Order: sequence, then structure tokens, then C-alpha cells
Amino acid sequence: MKVLISGGAGFIGQHLARALTGSGHEVVALDNLHPQVHLDPEGARAAFPGGVLVADVADEAAWSAIEGIDAVVHLAAETGTGQSMYEQDRYRRVNVEGTRLAGAFAAEHGITLVALSSRAVYGDGTPDRPSFEDDPHHPVSFYGETKSLGEAALEDAAQRVGITTIRPQNVIGPGQALHNPYTGVLAAFLAMLREGRPLTVYGDGTQTRDFIHVQDLAALIAWAVEHPAEPGAQRILNAGTGTRTTLLELAAYAIEGSPHDDVPIEHLDVHRAGDIDHACASLDRLTEVGAPMPEWTSREAVVDFIRWSWDKPGAASQAWDLALEELAQRGLTDGTGSAG
Ligand SMILES: NC(=O)c1ccc[n+]([C@@H]2O[C@H](COP(=O)([O-])OP(=O)(O)OC[C@H]3O[C@@H](n4cnc5c(N)ncnc54)[C@H](O)[C@@H]3O)[C@@H](O)[C@H]2O)c1
Repeated sequence: MKVLISGGAGFIGQHLARALTGSGHEVVALDNLHPQVHLDPEGARAAFPGGVLVADVADEAAWSAIEGIDAVVHLAAETGTGQSMYEQDRYRRVNVEGTRLAGAFAAEHGITLVALSSRAVYGDGTPDRPSFEDDPHHPVSFYGETKSLGEAALEDAAQRVGITTIRPQNVIGPGQALHNPYTGVLAAFLAMLREGRPLTVYGDGTQTRDFIHVQDLAALIAWAVEHPAEPGAQRILNAGTGTRTTLLELAAYAIEGSPHDDVPIEHLDVHRAGDIDHACASLDRLTEVGAPMPEWTSREAVVDFIRWSWDKPGAASQAWDLALEELAQRGLTDGTGSAG
């Protein structure tokens, strides 16, 4: 099969492309090599194991120039939760209109689509119940809102072609952007560990997340391409490990992957708009549909990420302090902001 991967030059896209080519498929990327994601756009392009069409997913003309594709995976998105709260037009355009165009392309060509939504559509979870695919949408960030609207924008196309919509929890692993302070607590922990700084945890650290290794997500997406959904309702699938990791456990796993031990933890009394307290996926539906189950535990995934990234270039930890300051200046944080 020839598979078009929008956002293919990014973190998940590069892993997916290698998984697909490893199974004998051909890949082509549609990616604008976004400067917030790619410090080295030519390097990202060279690493992708197929052609890269440099274009914007929210530009209809970019899609109409593409021919000869057997399946589409739509990954391209604006992904910063905090940033989405003040860059709404940009997030809406890429995440909603871009997704609608991906669906329209698949429908026009009569081919299957696998689209990446996010667990952010569920909003805040509880500490004792995972999120199920049929749960209502209650996004608390604009990013989550655009992912929910993006799913709705695929409904027409889903009547004509099979669409699988995957809602990943936190995805981690080698190749994740280390310089983009608008995403991911783990890249922040890496930067702090490398600088010998204490690890700063926002709040008391009892918040929970579900960290899935990027290779497990890539395997799930590849399975969905090879086992297309039927036309009708979208086939919605969670992606995660189904187990919770507290932020304090995350910090401990990150320290375990680093050459240090005994790194102090500093708590900062702050809450960012759009942040949630709890998240974890139910994997019941993955079992029901016979999809591949994750092979990495969250702990193994965190250790792998830290070890792999240790000597790779990335932003100084101050970049995350500045991103937090930017949110505070826009009135998008609460708490005292003091260390405790
Ligand atoms: N990484 C996670 O933890 C996570 C969790 C849930 C959902 N997701 C979803 O998975 C998908 C991929 O995420 P990722 O982690 O690989 O992100 P990423 O930022 O590494 O990759 C996104 C890619 O899309 C490209 N892109 C951005 N805007 C574009 C546009 N307008 N036109 C064309 N290309 C554009 C970027 O250049 C980049 O190569 C996204 O839809 C994201 O919302 C990711």
C-alpha cells in the first residue's frame, strides 16, 4: 500500500513511517515542517523514509494535488495545550479544518483514513475510573476542543469510507521534540536533570497520566491501516497502557533513566489553564477489536526516552519557565506560583 501520512515528519509520524515501510508499505508525508516542532527541518525530511510534500494540511489545494494513495494517516496538528488557549484561530484552522480536508480527501478517493485525535477530548478524568471511548466529550483546553471538533468534522466522510479515530494518552519515546516548551512535562524533566536542577512538579504530584511508548502507538496505527474500519460510524479507539503513573512516579522513572540519583523534587503551587488532574485509558475496546496491545510499560517507556535523549540537543529548562511565565502574563494560571 502507498500510505500518505500528514504530519509524517513529526515524532509519531517518523516511527509510524518506519513501522509501515518495515512491513513492506510505501510512505509519503504531507508536512509543513513547522518551525516550532522542527529545529532541523532538512534533517527531519531526510530521516523520513519516503517523499515529503512540504505543504499545509489546512490548505485545500495541497490535498487536491495528491494522487495514487491507498490509505491516509492524519497526524498533522498544533499540539500545545497551554498555547492553544491564546492561539485559537491557528489551532482551529489546522486541527479542525485540516482534519475535515483529510476526511474529504479519503472520501473522494474511496480510501481508508486513520486520524489521530487525543484523550484531551474527555477532559479531566477521575483517579479511579479510566476513560472509555463512549464517554462524553468535556475538553478543558482549546486543544481538546479542536480535537473534539475535528472528530465531528469527519462524520460525513465516515459515511463513505472507513475511518478509525485514535485517542492517544501521553505518547513518549525517542525522537520526541526536546526544544518545544509548549508540550510535554517529560522533556522539561530531561532538561532539568541534564542541568542538575531539582525537578519542578506543578502541584502536589499526585496527578496521574498514562504514558504509552511511541512504538506501541505506531503498531496500533499500522494495524488500523491494515485492518480498515467499515464505513458508517467512526471506529474510535483509545491508545494507552491502561495503567496510571503519578507525576511523582514519573519524576522517579526519569531520574532512574538518568545518570543521577537523589535528585530533589520541588513543588510549584501553580495550575495552568487547560491542565487536567487525571488521565488513563480503558483498553477494553482494543481487546474487543483484536488490536495489538501495548508491549512497553510506562516506566520502561520513560527510562527509554531519558536514556535515548540524554545526549541529544534540546532546550534549556528555562524555556519551560518562560512558557509558564507567558501563560501567567495572559492570566492563564492560578495558584501562588511559589515553590513549596
Ligand atoms: N505526542 C502526544 O503525546 C500525543 C498525544 C495525543 C495525541 N497526539 C496527536 O498525534 C498527532 C501527532 O503528534 P506528534 O506528537 O507526532 O506531534 P509533532 O508536533 O511531533 O508532529 C506533528 C507534525 O505535524 C506537522 N504540522 C503541524 N502543523 C501542520 C500543518 N498546518 N500542515 C502540515 N503539517 C503540519 C509538524 O511539522 C510535525 O511534523 C497529533 O495529531 C497530536 O495531536 C499526540
